[in-house]
Amino acid sequence: MSSKSPTDFFVIKALEDGVNVIGLTRGSDTRFHHSEKLDKGEVMIAQFTEHTSAVKVRGKAYIQSSHGEIHTETEEA
Ligand code: TRP
Repeated sequence: MSSKSPTDFFVIKALEDGVNVIGLTRGSDTRFHHSEKLDKGEVMIAQFTEHTSAVKVRGKAYIQSSHGEIHTETEEA
């Protein structure tokens, strides 16, 4: 299965209010094209697509993908 498979979902769960999930464009021009705001407990299920090559998550969140699971860093260490 190719790494661009449209069936490869990832999950982002917000662990605080105001988490931003930002989609970046595919191609030579890499820029933000969409910002989705999640409040605590909200979940976004998304894919990499023809238009989206990268995703930036800002805020405290738990992310699950076929590569594993990760928490974004928090300020209190
Ligand atoms: N219109 C975007 C696209 O088809 C929607 C999208 C897909 C998106 N995956 C995303 C937006 C991840 C933000 C983050 O590519």
